[in-house]
Amino acid sequence: MKILLTGAAGQVGTDLLPLLTERGDQVLAFDLAPAPKHLPDGVEWVRGDVTQSAEVYDAVSGFKPDRIMHFAAILSARGEQIPHRAWRVNMDGTLHVLEAARLFGKPQVFYTSTIAAFGPGLPNPVGDDVPLRPSTMYGVTKVAGERLGEYYQSHFGLDFRGVRFPGLINAGIPGGGTSDYALFMYVDGLRTGRYECFVSPQSRIPFMYMPDALRAVLELSDAPQKSLGRSIYNIAAISPSAEEIAAAVRARIPGVELTFKSDPERQAILDSWPQVLDDHHARFEWGWNHEFDLDGMSDDLLPKVRELIAKEGGGEKLHA
Ligand code: SER
Repeated sequence: MKILLTGAAGQVGTDLLPLLTERGDQVLAFDLAPAPKHLPDGVEWVRGDVTQSAEVYDAVSGFKPDRIMHFAAILSARGEQIPHRAWRVNMDGTLHVLEAARLFGKPQVFYTSTIAAFGPGLPNPVGDDVPLRPSTMYGVTKVAGERLGEYYQSHFGLDFRGVRFPGLINAGIPGGGTSDYALFMYVDGLRTGRYECFVSPQSRIPFMYMPDALRAVLELSDAPQKSLGRSIYNIAAISPSAEEIAAAVRARIPGVELTFKSDPERQAILDSWPQVLDDHHARFEWGWNHEFDLDGMSDDLLPKVRELIAKEGGGEKLHA
């Protein structure tokens, strides 16, 4: 299968790329960033900008993908610093991807939405079909992207589908998300022996370990279209508080100092999101089931973070 992956150098794209090539997919990786040193076999890397329609159209018309996995985006915390840029990347980028798909062979477009699509005041667990009143530019663009994709689906017959990701945790470098504190407890906990968390200990949002998130992408992307009753699905795994994550880290890194000092802006973003998601449509329609709980994730993640820190020579680059 030929897959065009936008945001290939991002938090999700970096981990998805080797998984796709292991399956035998041929991948055109599309990102502003240069190609990493070790590119898996079967991957061609294009330095491209999703805000430039011609660059997206050239990639899609030249490569003729069966699927476009659209992961290029600016996340919530970064998006509040540069809202106009976030709009252009997230919104124009999505429009260009959808339009290129319409014009050139109608590949499936796989879209990634987020818990940031929701706004404050919703009773937990929060289901798929609730009013979406996001409080961040990131959330606004993701909700609009969901609706734009559905427009292309209903008007042009495009196969548009996607998930609303919880905060994602992996052995990688997070990029401007509000949920990054969770990963930094593991990364800085190992790298420097301490981390000051920018939200309160009681803060609780849905999280997911990256291997589960990648499996969700592949399972939904592979699901027969007729089995799907909607285009966008909540997917859930765990909902630990920041203090519960800290306890899992402390249990595994003796002597680590994890403290809390809430940053009002990022705390407000976090408090506007659901604490628990209801994902029964995903579970019922395409068999979604997460594998990793907090302990399982922590046990699996720490050796990988250790490896990453060793590879990055002390892990300086890991400090966003
Ligand atoms: N991880 C994202 C963020 O924090 C939420 O989708 O912005």
